[in-house]
This record gives sequence, C-alpha cells and structure tokens, in this order.
Amino acid sequence: MSMTNQATLCTDVKYFFDPFVIKIEMDGNGDVWKPTPHGMALAQGMAKVPHVFCGKTVIEIGAGTGIHAILAMKLGAQSIDITDINEMVITTANKNADKNNVEFRQTWVRDWMNFEPSEPYDVVLCNPPFCKAGTPNRRWFITELMEQSSRFLKSGGYVIFCQSSMANFPFTEKELKGNNFMYEIVHKTRELFRDYYFTEPGFIEESRQVPNGFELIDDEYIETLQVYLGTLKF
Ligand SMILES: C[S@@+](CC[C@H](N)C(=O)[O-])C[C@H]1O[C@@H](n2cnc3c(N)ncnc32)[C@H](O)[C@@H]1O
Repeated sequence: MSMTNQATLCTDVKYFFDPFVIKIEMDGNGDVWKPTPHGMALAQGMAKVPHVFCGKTVIEIGAGTGIHAILAMKLGAQSIDITDINEMVITTANKNADKNNVEFRQTWVRDWMNFEPSEPYDVVLCNPPFCKAGTPNRRWFITELMEQSSRFLKSGGYVIFCQSSMANFPFTEKELKGNNFMYEIVHKTRELFRDYYFTEPGFIEESRQVPNGFELIDDEYIETLQVYLGTLKF
C-alpha cells in the first residue's frame, strides 16, 4: 500500500512502497508529470515482484519524476537507464535520484520510438502516457510498447507497465501474445476518475466505446488499473 504525505512547506512529496520511502521533488511550473494513480499502481505492482528487478539491467521509458526508476534501484536492480522526451523531466529525475541516494547509469532526452539501444536489457519499465495521448482509446503508446519493447529486451526479459480499463485490456492481452510475450497481471486496483478526464474534449464519449472501460458506482466514474508483467518468450 502506498501513502503520500503532501508537505506544505516544501515541494517534496514522500511515497511509501513498503519498506521503501521515496522522496520526490516536484518542479514548480508543472512541466514534470506528477505521479498519478496509474503511477502509484505501477509502483505497487513493482513492489510485489522484486525478483523482476533484483540484479537486472533496466530501462525506463518516459521516466517522469524518476519515481519508478528509483524504486527499481531500491528493489536491487543492477543498473537503470532512463529516457524521456522532455529535458526538464530528466533534470528533475536526476535530482530525485540524488535525493534518494541512487544513481541512474545513463539518461537520455529522446523519443524512445526512434531510439536504438546499444545493448539489450533485462527489463523495460513504463507508465505509458494515456489521457493526453489524443488518439482513439488512448492506446497508441501501449501498442507501440507491445510492438517495440522486444527490440530493447533479451530473450526471457520482462516488460512491466500499468494500464487503465479505458485503454482496453483484452486488446493489450492480444497484442502481448501477438508480440511473443507471456503475461500475468501483478496488481489490480480501482480508482475514481481524475478531474481532467471530464475536461478533456471527447474523453468520456471515447471511453464509452471501450467494452467495460469504466464502472459507475454511486454515480461516480471508476476505472480499473492493471499492472501487466510480460515475459518475452525464448
Ligand atoms: C505517464 S508519464 C509517466 C512518468 C513517470 N514514470 C510516472 O509515472 O510518474 C509519461 C512520461 O512519458 C514521457 N514521454 C511521452 N512520450 C515519450 C516518448 N515518445 N519518448 C520518451 N518519453 C516520452 C512524458 O514526458 C512523461 O514524462
């Protein structure tokens, strides 16, 4: 279970992923993606499968604040390389690594889809962009992840990521199998919609097109989040 402590006098927020406390500095102007319920779910899923990270070489795609990369190191990863398309993000992620006494091996400001890794990794870690993606069912990044992550991985390597029911679970499961992955769901939770789901044009209408995309409970919109662990078959 994770807990957040919104500090009032400084910009650090503390997260507890038993038994690790991670301190995250938020940049003041909102350029860096704040950890969201999706991000929290991914971290909770990671904490349930420490063997996936322990002693492994990891690459995080879209590192944001660095919270997942830091957790991977706390879980015993041999090394972590991070990429993000946003330079400000990488600067903040590096600051957060220092704050938590871990080191990222390499950091790249890069669109990962055009990125050729110099070596294959044991693990690809990702909290895919979702709501701001702007294409039907918000699946574009997840589909790319299914299709492209094998070029970053050794045989037997893992991809671990979080997804909302609104991005269509059966579709992802079909794509995982179609791209030579076995998979399991290592964490599942249900969360209230975030406020901006209601303000983004077309978002609710689009989500209605996805079978079982959301539930209504006491007139509140609820999404299910699942953390998938895919293993690339030999
Ligand atoms: C949902 S956020 C996840 C951030 C962080 N892992 C977290 O959960 O707090 C997605 C991140 O992916 C980055 N991103 C988006 N498109 C990208 C791309 N094509 N290549 C690399 N990073 C990308 C964004 O800048 C953002 O920081």
